[in-house]
Amino acid sequence: MIDDVIKFPAEPAGLYDPLRYMIGIGGKRIRPSLCLAAYGLFRSEAGEDVRKCAAALEVFHTFTLIHDDIMDRSPLRRGVPTVWKKWNEDTAILSGDVMLIEAYKLIMNAPESCRGAVVDLFSATAAQVCEGQQFDMEFESQECVSMEEYKRMIGLKTAVLLACSAKTGALLAGAPEPDCEALYRYGYELGMAFQIADDYLDAYGDEKVFGKPIGGDILNGKKSWLTIRALDKTDDRKGFMEAFCRSCSTEAERKGKIADVKAMYDALGVGDDARAEVIRYSDSAMAALSNLGVDTAPLREFADKLVGRAK
Ligand code: IPE
Ligand code: IPE
Ligand code: MG
Ligand code: MG
Ligand code: MG
Repeated sequence: MIDDVIKFPAEPAGLYDPLRYMIGIGGKRIRPSLCLAAYGLFRSEAGEDVRKCAAALEVFHTFTLIHDDIMDRSPLRRGVPTVWKKWNEDTAILSGDVMLIEAYKLIMNAPESCRGAVVDLFSATAAQVCEGQQFDMEFESQECVSMEEYKRMIGLKTAVLLACSAKTGALLAGAPEPDCEALYRYGYELGMAFQIADDYLDAYGDEKVFGKPIGGDILNGKKSWLTIRALDKTDDRKGFMEAFCRSCSTEAERKGKIADVKAMYDALGVGDDARAEVIRYSDSAMAALSNLGVDTAPLREFADKLVGRAK
C-alpha cells in the first residue's frame, strides 16, 4: 500500500539497515491505512505525494517503536528481535534519530496547498508523543496514578498519532475544516481504544500472534489500564502493590510474578472491564463522525477491526 514509497539510503548500512529491517518485518500499517481511508472518503485516487505522506506516519511510528523498545527493555517486536537486541543500544538510538528525519522528508511531499497545515500537525503530534512517553516512564515510579492521568498519558503517546493520521488524510483531500476536525476526534477516540486494547493484549494476548512478550508491562511496573483499574477496584491495594512491585531475578520468578498479578486481575474482572472500555471508545469514535456529509462505512469497518484485534 505504501511500502513502495519508503526508500532509505544504502550507506552507511550500519545506520540504515535497522530501518529497512523494521519496515521489512511488517506491522499492521494502521496509521497509513487510516490516513488513506480518511482521504478516500473525499477523493478517489491517492497519488504518490499522498501515499508518501501516509508513509511518513508509518515511518514516524516505527521510529517511536525503536526508541520505545530501548525504554521498555523489550526484546521482541513484530515477532522478531528488537533493534537494540539485534544490534545494540547505540545503533537503536542513532537509527531511530535518522528514521525521524526520513519521516520528515516524506511528509514534506504534501501538496503545497495544504503542506503548512499537514507539517504543523505532524510536528505538534510528534512532540506530544514524546510528552506521552515521558509520562509513561514517570508513572512507573509514581505510586498513585489516577485514571484521568493515565488517559491523558495514552492520549499523548498513542491517540494523537491516530488522530493526526485520520486528519492528515482529510487535509490532503482538501476536506472542509469541520470534517477534518471530526476525523481528528474519530482518530483520537480510536487511538484510546487502541492503546487500551494493547494494554489488554500485553497481559492476555498470544505472544505468537501479538508479536511482543506477554507480561512485559507487568514486569516493567507499567501503569497500564489494567493496573489502574485493579487499584481502583481492589480493597487490598497494599497486597496488589506488593505483588506488582516484587523484584525478580530469575525466569521462574518473572513467570510467577506475571501469573500472580494476572490472577488478581482475573479476580477483579479487569480484563472484561478493559474490553468493555475498548468498545465504548470505539463507539465514541463513530459518534464523532455523525455529522460528516460522506459515507463513513469504511471507518466503521476500520474501528470494528481494531476492537476485535488479537495483534
Ligand atoms: C504499537 O503499535 C504501539 C502502540 C501504540 C500500542 P502497533 O500495534 O500499531 O504496532 P505495529 O506497527 O502493528 O507493529
Ligand atoms: C507505545 O506504548 C507508545 C509508543 C511507541 C509511542 P507501548 O510501550 O505500550 O507499545 P508496545 O506495547 O511496546 O508496542
Ligand atoms: Mg512504552
Ligand atoms: Mg513498549
Ligand atoms: Mg504495550
